[in-house]
Parts: sequence; structure tokens; C-alpha cells
Amino acid sequence: MILHLKSFVFLLIVVVSIAHGYEPIDYQTAKNLTADYCYVNSYNEVDSIVKSCRYIVIQGFEVPAGKTLNLNLQKKTVLLFEGTLTFGMAYWDGPLISISGYDIQVMGGTNHLIHGHGEKYWDGQGDGGVKKPRKVMTINAHGGSFKNINIKNCPLFCVAIVGTDLTFSGFNIDLQDGFNNNLGRNTDGMSFSQSNNILIENCKIWNQDDCVNVLGGSTNSLVRNVHCWGSHGFSITSGMADSEKLNSISNITFEDSSIGGSLGGIHVKTLPTGGPGILDRITYRNIQITDVTRFAIEAHQDYPNEDGKSSNNIKITNLNLIGVTGTVKGSSTRSVRINCGSGSCSNWNWSGIKITGAQNKDECNFHPNGYSC
Ligand SMILES: *[C@@H]1O[C@H](CO)[C@@H](O)[C@H](O)[C@H]1NC(C)=O
Ligand SMILES: *[C@@H]1O[C@H](CO)[C@@H](O)[C@H](O)[C@H]1NC(C)=O
Ligand SMILES: *[C@@H]1O[C@H](CO)[C@@H](O)[C@H](O)[C@H]1NC(C)=O
Repeated sequence: MILHLKSFVFLLIVVVSIAHGYEPIDYQTAKNLTADYCYVNSYNEVDSIVKSCRYIVIQGFEVPAGKTLNLNLQKKTVLLFEGTLTFGMAYWDGPLISISGYDIQVMGGTNHLIHGHGEKYWDGQGDGGVKKPRKVMTINAHGGSFKNINIKNCPLFCVAIVGTDLTFSGFNIDLQDGFNNNLGRNTDGMSFSQSNNILIENCKIWNQDDCVNVLGGSTNSLVRNVHCWGSHGFSITSGMADSEKLNSISNITFEDSSIGGSLGGIHVKTLPTGGPGILDRITYRNIQITDVTRFAIEAHQDYPNEDGKSSNNIKITNLNLIGVTGTVKGSSTRSVRINCGSGSCSNWNWSGIKITGAQNKDECNFHPNGYSC
């Protein structure tokens, strides 16, 4: 019995220490630890401070053109962004910021801003046109949290994540300037790939491409209370890689979220040109869609051409939609388009789908349970 108890306690300690590889602290507490901090006031100080300190404040400064702000953090580092961070302009690939580490905590101060100055690059051509830094922030981390980060005007993609056991909350990604003359394009908000156990919550995103995009190799993740405007959708994208492992995506939920003024709402897409894979247990629950200008819900295997030449290289099983409501607006609208490859879609359960305003009929070559298409 005592033996059992001992091994139980041991097990408990192991479990707890796995669950909390770091001690979570809130911003106020972190800020109050001032004596422990190293302050980065210029780009030249970054490398040495990141190597020697575990409590770091990034003050406002300009990162020189063509340089990445590399934050390869020590384990359990606490890092605060304060002030306004800008980047000298250059036609290069980026990224502007790269953050990596284990059990790290990254927080944004109340008035901090990471300003990508996309407005200096935007030409309405996104990926084409002038060369733009591809990503504002790349994250490669295992264990940790990212809180209250404010990002403005990404030249192209904003935040690209690869990692495990990460929480992202309170991101405020504002590319409203990109709506002027439709100059902002391919400005994806937040995406993750090859990742496990990611939580994205309580975020606001104004952009001009996928709002949250879950890419190949991702599992067991949740996106909730995220509100998007102008975007292309809450997206799942697969088929860009050769192998089943890199393409497959399973157990992903989007819930209690909204998207509006956008090209699409819910968007599940696979490329016919890629290798094999399985999309399994993808759930959208309680999603509000407002004034989408094309398809409120689209699941298709002929991405990006949309020519009906879908392929069955990727299987899509258990794509479940529960409570998806709202409106579409304009002459190109449909409530639903489904285009599956031959035999590749199965067991989709949809309920509580109500989209109004469509000027074109649904177009489906596969019929989910619970929705008449
Ligand atoms: C932070 O410090 C301020 C003033 O020194 C104090 O009033 C406040 O309670 C502290 N907050 C936390 C969370 O430690
Ligand atoms: C599915 O993912 C969620 C996180 O969103 C996790 O809590 C749950 O355990 C996962 N389910 C399985 C069967 O792994
Ligand atoms: C989907 O619905 C079918 C019947 O319509 C049911 O047999 C199946 O268990 C459901 N699957 C899920 C994941 O709810």
C-alpha cells in the first residue's frame, strides 16, 4: 500500500512537472521583478543579453534593415516587449523576428507595438510584386506561452509557429491599413505546422488572407474566442508535402469564434499535387460568419485552382461542424461548396448550419450527414 502510494506520488510529481515545465507568471508580476531584468535598448545588445539573462525586456528600437531580431532564448526565459519595435526597410526574405526556446514566457506590455511597416511594401500583389519579408514573427518552441502581443502591418505573413505545448493568447494583429486600395495581400495572421498541443485564444485579427491557418503535421490543438475581420478564413491547409506524416492533421477544433468582411469563413483545403495524408477529427463549433463575400463554408480538394479537378491523395474523415451561422453578401456568394476527390471524404457530421444571403446555390459532390446540400 505504502509502495503504491509512493509510486502514485512519484507519478503525480512527474505528471505535474511535465504539465508545468515553467512557473506561469502574469504580466504585472513579471514587470515587478525589475531588478532581475536585462534591458535591450538596441539591436547590438541583443545577442549578449539573450545569452546571459533569463529575464529580458525588449525596449522600443529599430532593427537594422535586412536583419532578423534573433531571440534564441535560454530555457525558462521570461521576455517582455515594451515600447515600439520597428524594422529598417529592405526587400528581403525576413523573418523580422525569430523566437525559439523551451518553456519560455513572452509577454507584451500594455502599449508595446511590433510594427512591420507593411504599408511601405504593399503593392496589391502579396507574394508577387516587390520582395517582402515573408514573416514578421517565426516561433519554434517547446513549452511556453505568448501573451498580449500587438502586431501592426505585416508585409506578408504575420506569425508562423512550429512547436509543442504552446499557448498564444491576447494577440492583436491589426492590418486595417491593408484594406486601403486593397494593397495588403497574402497577409496570413497566425499559422502553425508540424505542431502538437497548441492553444490560440482571445485574439483579434484584421488581415487579408487566412486568419488562423492550421497546416500539415499538426495535432491536438484548439483555437477559441478568436475574432477576425477581412481575412480569408479559419483554415486547414494540407497537401504541400510529400509524406503522410507531414501532410496529416488531426484533432483540431475551432470554437466560439467569429469572422467577417472576409472572402471565406470556414475553409478546409488540400492540394491535389502533393503527397498522401489524412485530415481527421477537424471540428468547427459555434462559429459566427458575417458578410462573407464568397463561400461561407468551403471544403475542397482542388485548391488553389478550384477547377473541380479534386484529387483523393488526402482523406478527410470526421469533419464536424456544429452551429455555424451568419451571412454572405454579394453576387459571388454561396453558403457551401464541397468538392472531394473520388472516395476521399467520409463521415462528416454537420448540425445547426444556417447561412443566409447566398446568391448562388450550394455546390457539393459529397453530402455531410445533417446538412442538405
Ligand atoms: C507590483 O508592484 C506594485 C507597486 O510596487 C504593487 O502595487 C503591485 O501590487 C504589484 N503587483 C504584483 C502582481 O506583484
Ligand atoms: C484533442 O485535442 C485536445 C486539445 O485541443 C486535447 O485536450 C485532447 O486530449 C485531444 N484528444 C485526443 C484523443 O488526443
Ligand atoms: C456521425 O453521424 C453518424 C450517423 O449519422 C454516426 O454514426 C457517427 O457516430 C457520427 N460521428 C461522430 C464523430 O459524431
